[in-house]
Amino acid sequence: MERSELPAPAKPLLRALTGEAVWPPPAWLMRQAGRYLPEYRDIRARAGDFITLCTTPELAAEVTLQPIRRFGMEGAILFSDILMVPWALGQPLRFAEGEGPLLEPLRSAEAIAALNPSAIVERVAPILETVARVRAGLATEAPRTTLIGFAGGCFTVACYMLEGRGSKEFAAARGLAYADPALFGRLIRTLQEATVEYLVAQVEAGAEALMLFDSWAGMLSPGQFRRWVIEPTASITRALRRRCPGVPLIGFPRLAGPLLADYAARAGVDATAMDTAMDPRWAAQAVPPGMALQGNLDPLALVAGGAALEAEARSILAAMRGRPYVFNLGHGIVPQTPPEHVTALMRLLRSA
Ligand code: CP3
Repeated sequence: MERSELPAPAKPLLRALTGEAVWPPPAWLMRQAGRYLPEYRDIRARAGDFITLCTTPELAAEVTLQPIRRFGMEGAILFSDILMVPWALGQPLRFAEGEGPLLEPLRSAEAIAALNPSAIVERVAPILETVARVRAGLATEAPRTTLIGFAGGCFTVACYMLEGRGSKEFAAARGLAYADPALFGRLIRTLQEATVEYLVAQVEAGAEALMLFDSWAGMLSPGQFRRWVIEPTASITRALRRRCPGVPLIGFPRLAGPLLADYAARAGVDATAMDTAMDPRWAAQAVPPGMALQGNLDPLALVAGGAALEAEARSILAAMRGRPYVFNLGHGIVPQTPPEHVTALMRLLRSA
């Protein structure tokens, strides 16, 4: 057989996500494209505002590839935002400098009923073009790197849609979930439907793995967590298994604590991501040994660098050795991170 006819060996990240204990583990970092990189800040300044950056395929593809060129991660995450789903559903969104995202909050049953998930794929066309460009870029520049598409978890996205902005409590969403579960459920079902269409379209455009960011899942009581995090996620994963079989899905129920075990067992994901507060030794016992875990270095240890970074990284690696595992942070990289600490981390991982 000609060399070119041999099947390409599966990429390390895909092997780990589908249950192989790849060592040293494949790695990528949440928010790996962003303000800590001077080359990102250049492009961000050129684009003007953040939504323009997310909807200009040439620029969004470029910033997706920047950290891969500099550090060689095994995963490249699409450059976009979880709030592009509400944006695509027609809810006015802007990113104010220093304030984070601002949405016009949903205030009535009519506003929730007016959201139309069937138009989503058309609205996100530029993001899908970014996916296609990144996949083509990886094929020539980084053939071992896997392209990860993503969306927000329904509960987390609903939090922003009802509150209109970031919040410590997200009382509007958590309150509505108790006061009018039928109406809150209607919003969650709309998001479920939009999220499935959006993720299937990302796979059709070239995404090879998917991640669901449920950043505020940990604010819920156990009963509410099962109803508004596990159940909607299970319904999304059932649809995805049918419509894009073989594409692994990573779930991130941030700050779930011991409910992480329920989530791993029942949400239907292939891999479970651990946040910074999770003890990886506990997770290694609580999540079945054949299921991949991802995480969970403290982003602040990466800012500190040196011996503290090395000790934290090594202790996570020791807990994960022997099982399918993907190295990552426990939450997004922060803007004050020195890029050379990321270089040092990648070097440490490669010699693990
Ligand atoms: O590199 C990557 O990880 C891919 C791109 C990505 C972004 N946001 C880019 C971004 C991803 C996967 C996200 C997910 C996201 N967005 C989440 C879930 C993960 C998490 O952090 O909990 C959430 C909750 C959001 C919503 C959001 N977007 C907030 C609260 C903010 C403001 C805070 C901040 O860091 O500025 C954003 C803006 C945002 N999203 C930026 C980036 C690079 C910064 C925008 C800028 O350049 O000014």
